[in-house]
Amino acid sequence: MLKKVYTILLALVVASGFTARADEGMWLPLLVKRLNHVDMQKQGLQLTAEEIYNVNNASLKDAIVQFGGFCTGEFISKEGLLLTNHHCGYDAIANNSTPEDNILKNGWWAMTKEQEKKNDGLFVDILVRMEDVTGQVLQGITPQTPEQERTKLVGERMKSLSDAAKNNGQYVSYVRDFFNGNEYYLFVYDRFSDVRLVGTPPESIGKFGGDTDNWMWPRHTGDFSMFRVYMAPDGKPATYSEKNVPYRPKHHLPISMSPVKEGDFSMVFGFPGRTTRFMAGSGLGMAVDQSNPMRIKLRERRLALMKEAMDASPADRLKLASNYASISNYYKYFIGQNEGIKRMKTLDKKASEEKAFQTWTDADANRKALYGSALSDINASYAGQRDYNLSAIYRSEAALAPQLISHAYQYTPLYNYLKEGKVDKTKLDQLVKGYQDMNKEFYANYVPSSDQKIFAELMKMYYTDVPKAQHAAIFKDLTTTYKGDFRKWAADVYSKSFLASEAKANAFLANPSLKTLEADPAFKFMRNVQTNYQENIMPKLNEYNASLARANRLYVAGLREMNPNKVFYPDANSTLRLSYGTVKDYEPRDGVNYKYYTTLQGIAEKEDPSNPEFVVPAKLMELYNKKDYGRYGQDGELRVGFITNNDITGGNSGSPVINGRGELIGLAFDGNWEAMTGDLVFDPEYKRCINVDIKYVLFIMDKFAGAGHLVNEMTLVDKGNPNTTFNPSINDVKMDGKMEIETPEGEIKIKKKGNETKIKKETKKQKS
Ligand code: ARG
Repeated sequence: MLKKVYTILLALVVASGFTARADEGMWLPLLVKRLNHVDMQKQGLQLTAEEIYNVNNASLKDAIVQFGGFCTGEFISKEGLLLTNHHCGYDAIANNSTPEDNILKNGWWAMTKEQEKKNDGLFVDILVRMEDVTGQVLQGITPQTPEQERTKLVGERMKSLSDAAKNNGQYVSYVRDFFNGNEYYLFVYDRFSDVRLVGTPPESIGKFGGDTDNWMWPRHTGDFSMFRVYMAPDGKPATYSEKNVPYRPKHHLPISMSPVKEGDFSMVFGFPGRTTRFMAGSGLGMAVDQSNPMRIKLRERRLALMKEAMDASPADRLKLASNYASISNYYKYFIGQNEGIKRMKTLDKKASEEKAFQTWTDADANRKALYGSALSDINASYAGQRDYNLSAIYRSEAALAPQLISHAYQYTPLYNYLKEGKVDKTKLDQLVKGYQDMNKEFYANYVPSSDQKIFAELMKMYYTDVPKAQHAAIFKDLTTTYKGDFRKWAADVYSKSFLASEAKANAFLANPSLKTLEADPAFKFMRNVQTNYQENIMPKLNEYNASLARANRLYVAGLREMNPNKVFYPDANSTLRLSYGTVKDYEPRDGVNYKYYTTLQGIAEKEDPSNPEFVVPAKLMELYNKKDYGRYGQDGELRVGFITNNDITGGNSGSPVINGRGELIGLAFDGNWEAMTGDLVFDPEYKRCINVDIKYVLFIMDKFAGAGHLVNEMTLVDKGNPNTTFNPSINDVKMDGKMEIETPEGEIKIKKKGNETKIKKETKKQKS
């Protein structure tokens, strides 16, 4: 008897020690039934696992989209109305603004569908299905398979699996690796590229608190904007056409009108971009003392120069606003991450975890043979990368950062094509058309005067900070031709490059010649930096990356073997995930408690007409003074934001926060300052997910902006109403036939976002 009790106790201790906390983890919807459902029910979920994820019948997942490849959105009406964050729609909003009709500043709502505004290049991806393909990808591969051979086989199989799933262009698909190359999953999507702007609050609501409040709680930002997805009349995805009709999602989220209470179940469904929770201490060390300080320094300078231009001209402000916001977002992120790593002694925690791992591997000969050198290999790889890391950071954050240079970088595919020498008229026309479209957008947001200054400053920093032996050759010419005068050099590049002028660029495209492109000073500079990178820096980094990839794979495999009872979740990698937890307050520091929600009162308290970040629209103050909250208030207050302990990261922006009945209660839009290390380690005490309350969203649309007709389009539900239970067939539509994607993959992608995104894509970093 005693023995039995003891065994049970021991089992409990072991289980609680090893089981992942409910709030931690970004889970794959496909595995929820097996891994999480029981736990979720205990916490208050009332839905079945099939109501969350099902490929044959409508389920929650059908209401979630990846928005533009960098954010999340959710359907909230049967006519394709889509909700996301203001900062996700920011580019679309700014692009649809002019100084005369400034919807970014003033806000705007479509009163009819005809008024909805189109957005070139914007798309949403809707998951059709996901599938575990680990067996197929790793078939026949053993620990003895030479690494190069493994890499080759894995790459080929990933490609052929995803090619087959595309079904001749019907779908967008890819295979992603999980657990550092220990597992592989296939994802298949429908891509819809007619996504129209339906409305936005003014920036003074959508970005209230600006960069000061960014990454902070308590928060009062109404961070939402609204779109509508359109499809061809036959139900297929299609690019913009007047003939298109509103998309009919298989499921849309009903909206909860009941109060959100502390301890309520909450689930966040979305596309988290990137976490590196398995990263060893040596990797963190490199980020803390090498990468982050450089990024902070370079961004600070770039932002200051951009701000000068923005303050000087309202038109330039609109042009640069979106890019500025995204650079400053991660500028502050890197600062917070560095502070957090120090404050939370993250490196010490990693060190003790790694010590335990090493003790475990060394206790058994087989384990030692397999995993024994994983950590020392990881450490050696980072040590090797440190010598080249600075060059890589300065390449993306300095050399290729100016608008003009990142634009020149986009001409690489055309350059490669022309260089092949076998020019085919049809193919060339197709390429040129892509560039003409890209140019329209680029020059609309190009501010040459500030960009030229940025070029001069950043190149000077590159020249001074990067080890001379690693400089691109063109920096040597500089010392002779310009005698180290960076401004003169910049003036030369910007006055002579045809890329700096829309008219000249289009003249070039009318008759593209390799010689002209090669001789262009902006293009030439970019090529020189790239060539240097490809020939002298990348091979070194790749060499260490290969050993790092192998060692990380073994380390993660070993960790999982070491903790057989722990349910592991994979790092975020821009695939659909679900996280669950509860509405919960926190204590940021000794003696201070942060409530789990904020109200309109806080907006009145923060109001400062002299500070653009804290201006409050008069109408909003009027509603506040009259306490005119309509059906959206509660106990005489209007709630604005709330926090949960859901596990999220960048890319989750715009994700729905869903209650236990499958109803929308808010929109995730940020993380909190005390947990800026969250992408590296999950700290249950501090990590919170910051959300805008759905009733604030509805209040702003209805009472503030007079767009109640859109609220009427939604499905509002009240607790206790029997018709409010999850109804996956709210809007079951059959999609028949093939779907055509007019921009097949493989074609040159002309990217929509600012140079940030482009370079990030190249260097495989994450997007905000
Ligand atoms: N920190 C937010 C995120 O990464 C973005 C907020 C954008 N706002 C801003 N002030 N830059 O999702």
